[in-house]
Amino acid sequence: MSKDYVQIFDTTLRDGEQVPGCKLDTQQKLVIAERLDTLGVDIIEAGFPVSSPGDFLSVTEISKLVQNATVCGLTRAVMKDIEVAAEALKFAKRPRIHTGIGTSDSHIKFKFNSNKDAIIERAVAAVKYAKTFVEDVEFYAEDAGRTDNEFLARVCEEVVKAGATVLNIPDTTGYCLPEEYGAKIKYLKENVKDIHKAILSCHCHNDLGLATANSIAGVTNGARQIECTINGIGERAGNTSLEEVVMIMRQHPTLNLDTRINSKLLYDTSLMVSNKMGMPVQPNKAIVGSNAFAHSSGIHQDGVIKNRETYEIMDPADVGVNESSIILTARSGRAALAYRAKKVGYELTKLQLDVVYQEFLKFADTKKEVLDDDISTIINNSNIEIKKTAVS
Ligand code: KIV
Ligand code: ZN
Repeated sequence: MSKDYVQIFDTTLRDGEQVPGCKLDTQQKLVIAERLDTLGVDIIEAGFPVSSPGDFLSVTEISKLVQNATVCGLTRAVMKDIEVAAEALKFAKRPRIHTGIGTSDSHIKFKFNSNKDAIIERAVAAVKYAKTFVEDVEFYAEDAGRTDNEFLARVCEEVVKAGATVLNIPDTTGYCLPEEYGAKIKYLKENVKDIHKAILSCHCHNDLGLATANSIAGVTNGARQIECTINGIGERAGNTSLEEVVMIMRQHPTLNLDTRINSKLLYDTSLMVSNKMGMPVQPNKAIVGSNAFAHSSGIHQDGVIKNRETYEIMDPADVGVNESSIILTARSGRAALAYRAKKVGYELTKLQLDVVYQEFLKFADTKKEVLDDDISTIINNSNIEIKKTAVS
């Protein structure tokens, strides 16, 4: 059975960049946009053009630069926003306007002091106006995660009728459970007239650590676009992490879903975004964290040295990491010590290893991690003659 492709909509430069401390200038955004295009994302959300002259300039310059991906600009359901976004996108090869409005009871009541019919009217007017500038119009129903499905379906039906090509269903507050979010997408697939005319899109926030699980529940229930960011950066606890959803689909062939991402560029892209934004990646972050392919306990190290697949479900090279690493700590065993000693030029016999290992344990108890240089010190302290060979 041939795979279905899920479009990757990257919002690192919009939802990711709006985080305090992550602000980028236009030049930095251009470098990241070019990398995202090479990585193979389908859509780059370049910014919110009406929000500031700087963002307007960034969206304009990104539109000129990007060769393959669709370039998208965010707006509210406000005519001026849409005009400004259209202007910023005018050089894009494939422009998309992303417009929308809050649809949950709390957004309708407290944000807009409005009612359901008036919200639908504004949504439809915004989509129709955006369509006068570009063919590709994505509509977002902000706080769709807490919007009742019946009303959400009504909104979706009306904006599809008005010409929306993509329906974004954001779990803006990161509240949904995966079953709930998946059921929402299924409900829309089954209850919105002419739903085949639009692509359903998942936009999940990570307040309860469920953004990735919710996005996957969305695509297994019929959505065909995921909105995500590099390293999962974004408002509060962040957005869905691009590298996670891409590798979940790649590593689980039974899902029959894939993306066009060149996964070998994931690690470098993560580093680039982290450096430019000054936002460190947590070491235990899936896929791109510095510990994602590092093994430190004796039992795991022994298994990985015998066969990498005992404790690794993907090849580090597939995400651009050179190789798995065996970290030496006081929890490491003889196999790991022998492996690392060999890498720095000491081929230890079993008897030698027994002696050196005792010395290693004493040393390791005084340090968080034993480094290559420490191995020579430990061997010298062991009072046995071991010849060092050249390492290739
Ligand atoms: O989280 C959200 O609802 C958003 C929309 C503006 C798309 O970022
Ligand atoms: Zn968002």
